[in-house]
Amino acid sequence: MTILVTGAAGFIGSNFVLDWFDQSKEDVISLDLLTYAGNLENLSPLNNNPHHHFIQGSIGDRNLVSEFLKKYQVRAIINFAAESHVDRSILKSEDFIGTNIVGTYNLLESARSYWNDLKKNLKQDFRFVHISSDEVYGSLNSSDQPSNENDPYKPNNPYSASKAAGNHLVRAWFQTYKLPVFIVNSTNNYGPYQFPEKLIPLCILNALNDKSLPIYGDGQQIRDWLYVKDHCSAIREILNRGQVGETYNVGGSNEKTNLEVVEALCDILDELKSKLNGKSYRDQITFIKDRSGHDKRYAIDASKLKSELNWKPKETFETGLSKTVFWYLENETWMNHIASGEYQHWIQKQYS
Ligand code: NAD
Ligand code: TYD
Repeated sequence: MTILVTGAAGFIGSNFVLDWFDQSKEDVISLDLLTYAGNLENLSPLNNNPHHHFIQGSIGDRNLVSEFLKKYQVRAIINFAAESHVDRSILKSEDFIGTNIVGTYNLLESARSYWNDLKKNLKQDFRFVHISSDEVYGSLNSSDQPSNENDPYKPNNPYSASKAAGNHLVRAWFQTYKLPVFIVNSTNNYGPYQFPEKLIPLCILNALNDKSLPIYGDGQQIRDWLYVKDHCSAIREILNRGQVGETYNVGGSNEKTNLEVVEALCDILDELKSKLNGKSYRDQITFIKDRSGHDKRYAIDASKLKSELNWKPKETFETGLSKTVFWYLENETWMNHIASGEYQHWIQKQYS
């Protein structure tokens, strides 16, 4: 038996696959379309691993997906494949609708048809884990309780609306067809292999290249930060022991303003790679025009995951951020490769 991981060449997907082989010998099929965000270098530690199989293709390609679900006797699908960046969704939402909604629909249908034909015991054990976001709950005020699994969806930007729509489809495929699904809504992830369009890797890259560290608006928006390896361990617990049909919220209990995040990473860089001129990286912080429809605060109540599956994050924000900065400093070649090509076009478009 094998598991299928979609979006496996992206940030969280690649961390999940790499961690999987630390825990298990079970084969993994990695499916990824290799969009601008997909990077095979993220999976290069597995280049000589006979238990890992990479397939380039889309979750929307039903013929392809159906063929290898059967061929590899897949027992679980973990769906990370998505368009994932809010700023890009504001500029051009089409791919977000295509992958996050229509792609999810097609993957559900491929899964359902395969699952329907499985023998009874295999059918019972099959799982479809859909990875989604706290952004589906919309923006909170500072006095609001963190979002729990029963809160209504109130997405405010094209990305979060597309993720909310995908979640609704997954839920409906359980309610209507009994496809054994989980929905996992997590907070902002950070860690190794993150594409440097997201706040933390963007600021590390810019800091080291003596560029400005762009903070949207006043930098007082709040996100809850989750170290990516903690997210991966939560997904494994849900896959192994979760209650079918349920949604699980995953958070790091690390609510920080964006300015606090960037200042903290400047302080770590000051310590690990101090500037020759003796100045602090904090001097590079620059406040720029705000993102339109910028959500004020996201926060997750992860108590269900703790009480049902006894999961809690291992890293604090301080330990996770230090590990992250250290990883980027140690992986200069990865940084240099990713900071070329399509990434350069995006940055030029953004700031011209
Ligand atoms: P990412 O952008 O780094 O990776 C997405 C991957 O999906 C890329 O490798 C890309 O090539 C692939 N992909 C895109 N369209 C595809 C398609 N049609 N078929 C197959 N592959 C396709 O994203 P990420 O940060 O790793 O996010 C993974 C998932 O987690 C997404 O569903 C995202 O919404 C969710 N999520 C991310 C965060 C975060 O902070 N990064 C937080 C909560 C939820
Ligand atoms: P981001 O990493 O894009 O994740 P998301 O939009 O999914 O939360 O952004 C995190 C926060 O940081 C968000 O409030 C927007 C803000 N931000 C900046 O202030 N400057 C930047 O250059 C980026 C990319 C994000």
